[in-house]
Amino acid sequence: MTIQENISLKNYNTFGIQVNAKRFVSITSVYQLQQLLTVEKDIFILSGGSNMLLTTDINKLVVHINIEGISIDNEDENAVYLTVNAGENWHNFVLWAIAQNYGGIENLSLIPGNVGTCPIQNIGAYGVEVKDVITKVEAIEVDSGKLVSFSNKECQFGYRNSIFKNKAKGKYIITAVGFKLTKNQHQLNTSYGAIEQELSAQKIVNPTIKAVSDAVITIRKAKLPDPNEIGNSGSFFKNPVIDVDLFKTLQEKYPEIPSYPISDTEIKVPAGWLIEKSGFKGKRFGDAGVHTKQALVLVNYGNATGQEIYNLAKNIQQKILELFQIELEIEVNVI
Ligand code: EPU
Repeated sequence: MTIQENISLKNYNTFGIQVNAKRFVSITSVYQLQQLLTVEKDIFILSGGSNMLLTTDINKLVVHINIEGISIDNEDENAVYLTVNAGENWHNFVLWAIAQNYGGIENLSLIPGNVGTCPIQNIGAYGVEVKDVITKVEAIEVDSGKLVSFSNKECQFGYRNSIFKNKAKGKYIITAVGFKLTKNQHQLNTSYGAIEQELSAQKIVNPTIKAVSDAVITIRKAKLPDPNEIGNSGSFFKNPVIDVDLFKTLQEKYPEIPSYPISDTEIKVPAGWLIEKSGFKGKRFGDAGVHTKQALVLVNYGNATGQEIYNLAKNIQQKILELFQIELEIEVNVI
C-alpha cells in the first residue's frame, strides 16, 4: 500500500474531468482498508468514478477501492448466491454471470462503474433495478473499522436512492455486494419497449439471457455515449415526479408529454423529454454539452471543467423551472 502524491484523477472518473488528488492510495483488500483507517479517517472514497462530477482538486486522501474477486457462497437447484468484491467492474461481472447462465442482471448490461457503487444509487435500466437481486451489502464502518453487513431491507432502496446516499452517507465504505441470481427458469424482463423492438427486429421469439443482454447493449450503444470516447456520467438528472394537477396543466399545453403513473396523485415525467423540449439537446458550450441522442446525459467533449458542466446543469434546471414549473434534481454526486 503506497501513498502517491499529486495524482491526476482524469482517468479515474468517467466524465474525464481533470482534477488532482493531493494524496492517492489504491486498496486491494479489506484488511488494507482497515489498517489504513486506523491512521487516517478523513478520506475520499473513489470506486469506478462513474456517478460523480469533480469540480475541484481533492485535498483529502483519495482511497481507490480496487478489491477484486467473485465467490459462490451457496447454491441450490434454482439459484446461486454470490459475493462480489467492490472493485470488480460492473459490466464484466454481468458478462461473467451470463457466461455461467446466471440470470437477473442481463438488463443492467453496459452500465459503467464498479460493483461497489451499484447499491448506492440502486442502478437501474429497462425495467430492472439492482435492488431486485441484491441480498446484502458488506461495508466497513469508517469510525470503528468494523466490517458490517446490510440486508436488502436495511439498504432502504428507492428510485436511484439508498441509505448510502442518505443516513449512511460518508459513514461506510462498501467492500462487497451479495447477489441472488437464477440458474434456470430465468425471469426475463423484456417488457420495456425498446427491448421488445430489438428482439423482434432480430426475429428472436424465445430469448436467452444472453440475447436480452445483447439487445440492451445494442440499445445503449445507439443512445448513450461510451465514456471511453466522450466523458459522461449517464443520466445527469433524476426523472422528476410531479403532482397530477401540474401534469394536467402541462398536458394541455404539450399533449404529447410522455408520463408514467406513480400513484393516484403523482406522475413521473422523463427529464430527457423536458430538456429536449427546452432546446438544450445536442447543444455545446465549449467542451461541455448535452448529448445529441439522449438529452438526460451531459457530456465532456475533452477538456471541460467540472464547474463548466455544473454551470450547464444549473442553466438547464433554471430553464426547466421557468418553462414547466418543475425542479430537476441532479442524480450525479457533485464534489
Ligand atoms: N426522451 C426524449 N428526449 C431525449 C431523451 C428521452 O424525448 O433526449 C423521452 C423518450 O422518447 C422517452 C422518455 O423520454 O419517451 C424516456 O427515455 P429513455 O427510455 O431513454 O429513458 P430515460 O427515462 O431518459 C432512464 C434511466 C436510464 C436508463 C433508461 C432505460 C433515469 C434517471 N435514467 O432514462 O439510466 O438507461 O431509463 O431504462 O432514470 C442512468 O441512470 O445513468 C441511466 C442511463
